[in-house]
Amino acid sequence: MPEPATPATPVTFPPAFLWGAATSAYQIEGAVREGGRTPSIWDTFSHTPGKTAGGEHGDIAVDHYHRYRDDVAMMADLGLNAYRFSISWSRVQPTGRGPAVQVGLDFYRRLVDELLDKGIKPAVTLYHWDLPQELEDAGGWPERDTAYRFAEYAQIVGEALGDRVEQWITLNEPWCSAFLGYASGVHAPGRTDPAASLKAAHHLNLAHGLSASALRSVMPARNSIALSLNSSVVRPLTQDPADLAAARKIDDLANGVFHGPILHGAYPDSLFAATELLTDWSYVQDGDLRAINQPLDALGLNYYTPALVSAADNDLAGPRADGHGASDFSPWPAADDVTFHQTPGERTEMGWTIDPTGLHDLIMRYTREAPGLPLYITENGAAYDDKPDPDGKVHDPERISYLHGHLAAVRRAVSDGADVRGYYLWSLMDNFEWAYGYEKRFGAVYVDYSTLARTPKSSALWYGQAARTGTLPPVPEV
Ligand code: FCB
Repeated sequence: MPEPATPATPVTFPPAFLWGAATSAYQIEGAVREGGRTPSIWDTFSHTPGKTAGGEHGDIAVDHYHRYRDDVAMMADLGLNAYRFSISWSRVQPTGRGPAVQVGLDFYRRLVDELLDKGIKPAVTLYHWDLPQELEDAGGWPERDTAYRFAEYAQIVGEALGDRVEQWITLNEPWCSAFLGYASGVHAPGRTDPAASLKAAHHLNLAHGLSASALRSVMPARNSIALSLNSSVVRPLTQDPADLAAARKIDDLANGVFHGPILHGAYPDSLFAATELLTDWSYVQDGDLRAINQPLDALGLNYYTPALVSAADNDLAGPRADGHGASDFSPWPAADDVTFHQTPGERTEMGWTIDPTGLHDLIMRYTREAPGLPLYITENGAAYDDKPDPDGKVHDPERISYLHGHLAAVRRAVSDGADVRGYYLWSLMDNFEWAYGYEKRFGAVYVDYSTLARTPKSSALWYGQAARTGTLPPVPEV
């Protein structure tokens, strides 16, 4: 059921609520060869023919590296009080190991200072999918050493920015790194090896735990350490035991594989059982689970759409609802016996069904799963085919309706007892949407790709008003 579009009573948030927007380095920065930066797996992948729509890449992206001052001023003008961005690892440590490049760190210092100067709270993500290519050449995430390299990098960035950034996110959506990167291959590095993807998942977990400890060892105790999961809201098509088992399996492969060790110090037994033909998990070494199960200060949840699944012999099969691109290879290891269905309802330009109840369910799940842990919605948003009017204005009432529905769902979860402290709209501005190139526009701010001029869409103005007043403004008619 959609959230009511115009509730009788105004939807108002607590005064300390963070109203942010999110981006990631490769999607916006450009300047891929400046300051000693070397290629990441996304540079290599996007320059490989056939991997992204139209062969598009992030060489220039939206040139945020050079325009960051204007972008921060724009956020301040809109009224946002928080900004989540990621650090390009190979800008800081070009080979993925060894001493830091000061020019790289200086860019992020200047960005953070600019944000603080404008009263915008920075949240740093250390890894949003752009592994230095040299580390992929040495084996990538299926290789244990990558986790140690990540902890070293985290310590470098923590030392450099820990005095001015309070909010830290180790990994963004490790599910995508492991399973889109190494199983379905729609994301960099584009490998299609299900056994390797499970190994990658473990080493990402280890990277999270080791980096959380490394950050703590160098940063003031007041800083908050979290990670952002794109935990799936997995719904069974029917209550038939076979469909319930299918949903359980996908829940393990989407969620349990990460939150099991991270929040509870153990992988689900059912995950081991489901994947035993692919891997014996012998790379989980003594002490790993303790290292992964670090105390966290918060949890970031990224939500776009729920998943609807059944046992494979169900003949209602439809297209997968949660993809970041098409592949002949599944991102779900050992799940050939599961079928994904399109959740009914209106969809965004990604083909993702709009269902704010999923966000409410997700928040309530983690409220139960991790009692007492503050939650942030670190990504939520929608792609639409936005175009400027003849007068140059960009009207995107569908996005306003999407944001209203999802923010109302967040507020409802808060009323139901959840401790949600902030919301970061994905994304601040249109940008490089991975395998889709520039074709999918997620921004609240429109980017004209021929001039790189930025124009706030009507959703940006709507969201800014929500941020300034703490109350959701009315939704215009679509
Ligand atoms: C998330 C990613 C983000 C963007 C959105 C649409 O999975 O973290 O970079 O691609 O999806």
